[in-house]
Amino acid sequence: MHIDSVHARAILDTRGRPTIETTLVSRHLKATASVPSGKSTGSHEACELRDPDGGVTQAIANVEGTIAQALIGRDFVSSDDIDALLIVIDGTADKSHLGANAMLSISIAAERLFAQEARIPLWRSIANRARVTPAVPHLYVNVMNGGAHADFKLPFQEYLLVVEGSTHAALKEAHEVFTKLGEKLGKVPMGDEGGYAPTFDTLEEPFEILSELIAPHPSMSIAIDAAASELYHDAAYRLLGKEYSADDLSRVYENLVARYPMHSIEDPFDEDAHGDFARLMTILGKKTRIVGDDLTVTNPERIESASAHGEINAVLIKPNQIGTLQETIVAVQDTRAAEFEAIASHRSGETDDTFIADFAYGIGAHGIKAGGLGQKERLLKYERLVAIERESLSL
Ligand code: PGA
Ligand code: ZN
Repeated sequence: MHIDSVHARAILDTRGRPTIETTLVSRHLKATASVPSGKSTGSHEACELRDPDGGVTQAIANVEGTIAQALIGRDFVSSDDIDALLIVIDGTADKSHLGANAMLSISIAAERLFAQEARIPLWRSIANRARVTPAVPHLYVNVMNGGAHADFKLPFQEYLLVVEGSTHAALKEAHEVFTKLGEKLGKVPMGDEGGYAPTFDTLEEPFEILSELIAPHPSMSIAIDAAASELYHDAAYRLLGKEYSADDLSRVYENLVARYPMHSIEDPFDEDAHGDFARLMTILGKKTRIVGDDLTVTNPERIESASAHGEINAVLIKPNQIGTLQETIVAVQDTRAAEFEAIASHRSGETDDTFIADFAYGIGAHGIKAGGLGQKERLLKYERLVAIERESLSL
């Protein structure tokens, strides 16, 4: 693959903040990728390069300057070659030199170019690279937003419905329940991820409503992302104005699992509370999924450590937490080696790039988190999955 040109520009994400979009050209081929942005970012994530005013002009300058100089005019035999070069040029452990956002925009565009050159779908190219059999992921559809995504009106950041089965059927079912929930809640604002953002007086109320709504749907269960690092202040967790110790919070989770059909609990404790994760696993690990996100940040070393210490049994995989697809795929392989389930995930600030759908299917992920059904950028990912499902059946 001979790279002829590299261009980048700023586009706005779903929160109206600038993010980077990069286009690579190789002879008659052209590929573009844009990078999403988190709000409740883990402190161990790779560095998203931002100007002091929140812009991405430095990240763009890195793509069109240092990175372009290294890529243009050279021939690459694989997308791994390009990622390896990016990692060498950056030369830092946290990608703070080039910026994980700048690097990932190149990494994804390069993957698209190689897929085009091989005349195979993007998901197939990812599956080949990861050496896994593609599979339809369960949909983790965000229905209610809280925490940092909705001014902490609800304690937990995300309330999700997990829907099993073909994407086409699952999406239809999810839409039905999403609409009914909207009717029940009445006029409430929307949160960052395109789910409703209501207010409740008790921790249980959202679970009562959701379990009632999904009762006629055997393919559905409930998941939460507690995003507990955001709730943790002065050695205590703050939920609905009350303080909880890690043990108190553990009992909250035990109660939820006992009373409701809970599929998974993501980031139940602060990102550095390794012992609390391990203790919860001994209590609930056989009954539900304990998912690492801020805990593991798609970092192979942190996933291996979580495995060695029995802290979780499922992992969120977000390419922009680590900065290149090459490292993301190592994280996926470590996840599989640990016999954890992988859940591919978007970010709360999204663009119309549907890469995560091809990625989730390509790595045979257990699930995909792509947000609520009330925002076009989220729907595009689900629609891409439906198209992939059709495409894969006809190949
Ligand atoms: P973020 O939230 O994209 O704001 O980090 C998503 C998540 O925590 O899973
Ligand atoms: Zn999370």
